[in-house]
Amino acid sequence: MSSAKLILNDKEFEFPVIVGSEQEVGIDLTSLRAKTGAITYDPGYGNTGACQSAITYIDGDQGILRYRGYPIEEIANNASFVETCYLLIYGELPNAQQLADFQHQLTYHTLIHEDMKKFFEGYPAKAHPMAIMASMVTSLSTYYEESDDPAVTKLNMIRLLAKAKTIAAFSYKKSIGQPYIYPRNDLSYTGDFLHMLFAVPAEPYQISPVLERALNLLLILHADHEQNCSTSTVRMVGSSRASLFASIGAGICALWGPLHGGANQEVIEMLEMIRADGGDYHKYMNLAKDKTSSFKLMGFGHRVYKNFDPRAKICKAITDEVLGALGIHDPLLEIAKNLEEIALSDSYFVERKLYPNVDFYSGIIYRAMGIPTNMFTVLFALGRMPGWIAHWQEMRGDSATKINRPRQVYTGAPERHYVPVAQR
Ligand code: ACO
Repeated sequence: MSSAKLILNDKEFEFPVIVGSEQEVGIDLTSLRAKTGAITYDPGYGNTGACQSAITYIDGDQGILRYRGYPIEEIANNASFVETCYLLIYGELPNAQQLADFQHQLTYHTLIHEDMKKFFEGYPAKAHPMAIMASMVTSLSTYYEESDDPAVTKLNMIRLLAKAKTIAAFSYKKSIGQPYIYPRNDLSYTGDFLHMLFAVPAEPYQISPVLERALNLLLILHADHEQNCSTSTVRMVGSSRASLFASIGAGICALWGPLHGGANQEVIEMLEMIRADGGDYHKYMNLAKDKTSSFKLMGFGHRVYKNFDPRAKICKAITDEVLGALGIHDPLLEIAKNLEEIALSDSYFVERKLYPNVDFYSGIIYRAMGIPTNMFTVLFALGRMPGWIAHWQEMRGDSATKINRPRQVYTGAPERHYVPVAQR
């Protein structure tokens, strides 16, 4: 298959076809407007390929997710988050020396400029940590020079990965009024983050291996997901030649929405609401199906997965393990499992191919770890950082990249003429 034909107003037009490494077929419509005068109409971009990418492969019908070719299950069970970052950004798994060097760099760039602490002080105590995270990441561009020099960009990528966890932890400490805890160079990436989040100056903090492992796994599961809303935002903003920090600051804002990364917070709020209402999950299942209600089963459904989200399977499997190891019985887990069981056999959900997504169980694990609900999406942002960086880098290095500028089908008033106020 090398071309596709389109008939418009009885005229036939031919377009080249491109085939990806997993036999995905795309019709190259870059010449569509020039040849036909028409544009495509695809709200939500469900059928639009905006780029070619070698980072992540998803087959939503089969429930497959691969980072640089490696199945998510293998990465999640064997790799560290730092290894995953290296894989996504540089394209290959690191050897021992490369990993040690990368780890070293991520360890020695964790401090943020002392002046940036003043920014945190300016926010109200109730500020959402995602707002702080987005502003702080964008603000990095005011402290760390950016240029087209590849060495500078490479250093800024390391800075961003290293400082993101300091920013995330400081935003939490700010929200609970505790002193900021500085990073420690003898800890792993995830261990250091837990230390900055939970330690207090008065006593030593013991990092629980259960928490460290769970966090490592959750960050890996969120590390990339090809052209989702926030990653496409990063690519779109970056296509105007906006800087790495500015583009990823915009991506963090896109992630915040409840239909995207904000869903993990919404899932817990939904489960709490159901529990407070007597735990009648049947009532809420009916509400989710009722088209006159705005209630949705949060953590269910996905634009791409029309089969199980493979990340949700891994998350569900470790939820019992983590809660068991921590000796926690969470009634919300029971409600979640009951909702899932009903949904999987309910014709409404079956027909629409709605399955739990990664966020259905991740919030329950974060809760068990002692992480407050409004920090869940920040943890998602921390996990997604290597994916955003990899996509920004790929987009910048791709000679096919143009400033992103979609078209529209105009449906407003035809030309009309100005009438002075007195005559209207
Ligand atoms: N609860 C009830 N009904 C749902 C749900 C849900 N969670 N999700 C989709 N539907 C229904 C829609 O109402 C629609 O029904 P209809 O055909 O009768 O009109 C049908 O299923 C198709 O749904 P769309 O909204 O068209 O699917 P889309 O691909 O646009 O949306 C989305 C995907 C946004 C994820 C949606 O499923 C949703 O809102 N889910 C809840 C929020 C959520 O969990 N988001 C996290 C996504 S994963 C992530 O970002 C990490």
